[in-house]
Amino acid sequence: MNELSYKEIMKSIADSLPAEVTVADVKALLGQAKETMSCYRCAALEVETKFKVLDERFSVQNERNPIESIKSRIKSPESILEKLRRKNLPLSLASVQRLNDIAGVRVICSFVEDIYMLADCLISQDDVTLIETRDYIKHPKKNGYRSLHLIIETPIFLHDEKRNMRVEVQLRTIAMETWANLEHKLRYKKNLDDKTQADISEKLLKCASICETLDTQMQDVKHTVDGLI
Ligand code: GTP
Ligand code: MG
Repeated sequence: MNELSYKEIMKSIADSLPAEVTVADVKALLGQAKETMSCYRCAALEVETKFKVLDERFSVQNERNPIESIKSRIKSPESILEKLRRKNLPLSLASVQRLNDIAGVRVICSFVEDIYMLADCLISQDDVTLIETRDYIKHPKKNGYRSLHLIIETPIFLHDEKRNMRVEVQLRTIAMETWANLEHKLRYKKNLDDKTQADISEKLLKCASICETLDTQMQDVKHTVDGLI
């Protein structure tokens, strides 16, 4: 966290507190925040392990791994603050817990059909509740973004209690990941005139279409190879 955003967060906390709040109250709030973030970290670990188990079992039965890589992240304080502001929510632990993507797990798959297979396996587990699905593969965003997003709820087991936690799962192919990473980097380039911006958006949309073709053709090749075995 850089110094400026840390100060910004502290100022927001101070501004939102009534005058009678004591230093001890602030310490207690920060302690709760630390505790909550730790629970989200545990939830991401649980979900990551679920995918690793699915990958291991699939590889024994099918002699290939459907997962290329898995990444987890906990939303940074800057992003949490930005999202609370965007959604007009007050700065409180209760608001943070209303966000569905504090814990995020990204699963990069070999083929599009692996994405749906893994998503089905995950949501059929009896300690996983599906809260929301956004299928940006069947319905890509206007800019060309593709991925399958799931919001799930799953328990974590602490030394003295069980807590249900929400986790955002993003499943993508390597091509989708490459496109999203590059688009993310380019999106933050500033000072572009409208014409250049429109030109870049058009080119990115074409790249997204090439990625989609690549995914379809790689899956076709896989089917051909599967048919030969
Ligand atoms: P946020 O409020 O930003 O979290 O969006 P949302 O809650 O409406 O959910 P959505 O499913 O649209 O996006 C969630 C996440 O998906 C983002 O935080 C990104 O990681 C990823 N994502 C969504 N759209 C894009 C996109 O156009 N480009 C890239 N690179 N990533 C995207
Ligand atoms: Mg989100």
